Amino acid sequence: MIWETFPDYAALSDRAASILLDAIRNEPALVLGLPTGNTPVGMYERAVAECKREYRCFTDVVTFNLDEYAGIPRDHPGSYARFMQRQLFDHVDVQPRNTHIPNGMAPDLAVECARYERAIRAAGGIGLTFLGLGSNGHIGFNEPGTPFDARTHVSALSELTRKANASFFLDLRVPTHAITMGIGTILESRAIVLLASGEKKREAVARLRSPEQSVNFPASALWRHNNVRVLVDQAAS
Ligand code: GLP
Repeated sequence: MIWETFPDYAALSDRAASILLDAIRNEPALVLGLPTGNTPVGMYERAVAECKREYRCFTDVVTFNLDEYAGIPRDHPGSYARFMQRQLFDHVDVQPRNTHIPNGMAPDLAVECARYERAIRAAGGIGLTFLGLGSNGHIGFNEPGTPFDARTHVSALSELTRKANASFFLDLRVPTHAITMGIGTILESRAIVLLASGEKKREAVARLRSPEQSVNFPASALWRHNNVRVLVDQAAS
């Protein structure tokens, strides 16, 4: 696990965006695993600004989002589908058919999870995944207790997670469940970059520094992977 510490969120976001764009320059048809939440917003803003200057940026890139809420439509303002449109997809040349987000409104969520796994496999697996970090150590929506070999599944969200995400829901009615790539799915990504910013993440970051693995702290599974970079800002460390 390689650790990089930055003076502030802006510097962390610059670095994350340059890792993202360099990876695409090296491999234009890169398959990306993408996060939502507040943390990656700066990375997406910089990537969008940079891509405005470049001819073809995301043209051949394929994306798989880590997760999506269950039971809300794609066009709900709190959905991760809308988040991705707002933050990235609407502003770069990614082809809509190359962007994948679990469908939280699928009639059978288990079938949808299996479909998502198949789609990742059909794309040749994920080359580079960016992750945020829940203050309880969750990655994607893999809450504490999730086995490290879990595949894409339906997750029951903890109260803490629902509270942390309430700002994305004006009515404060955060869904109770979500579809998430499993920890096992995430660990198959060839490279992983985790971003953590701000005081609220300090405890989780401190816990992640210890190589001790426990299902009670999902991010500790990353110690099983041989190509993980953790970017933190001063406030989180
Ligand atoms: C949500 C997302 C996670 C994200 C986490 C942290 O729960 N499902 O993928 O990492 O929030 O969010 P934030 O970056 O807003 O702190």
